[in-house]
Amino acid sequence: ARPWRDLVAVAELERGWVTRVDLGARSLAVYDTPTGIHVSLALCNHGGADLCDGFFDGHVIECPLHQGAFDVRDGRPVSAPATRPMKLFETRVRDGMVQIRA
Ligand code: FES
Repeated sequence: ARPWRDLVAVAELERGWVTRVDLGARSLAVYDTPTGIHVSLALCNHGGADLCDGFFDGHVIECPLHQGAFDVRDGRPVSAPATRPMKLFETRVRDGMVQIRA
C-alpha cells in the first residue's frame, strides 16, 4: 500500500462543507461530513468541473456544471448525468491532520 501522508489540518477545513487542497499537481476535495472526513479528486469525472465549487449537503456533493451528484462516502453517482463512481482516497485523521494514501 502507498504510505500515509499529511494533507491538511482538520482545523483548516470548512465545517460541514468541501475544502479544496492541492497536492502536487492534483487538486483534491476534502469533505467534512457528520460522520467523518472523505477525500476525492476535485475534478468531476463527468466533464471536468471543479467539485469544490459545487454544493455540499450532508454526504452528497453536487457538481456546479451539470448538477450531477456523488455520495462522498463511497463515491457512487447518485444523480445524473454522473454515471461513474468518483475516485476516493483512503483517508484517516491522526493528531489533528487529515491523512490520505496517495
Ligand atoms: Fe460534473 Fe458534468 S461536469 S456533472
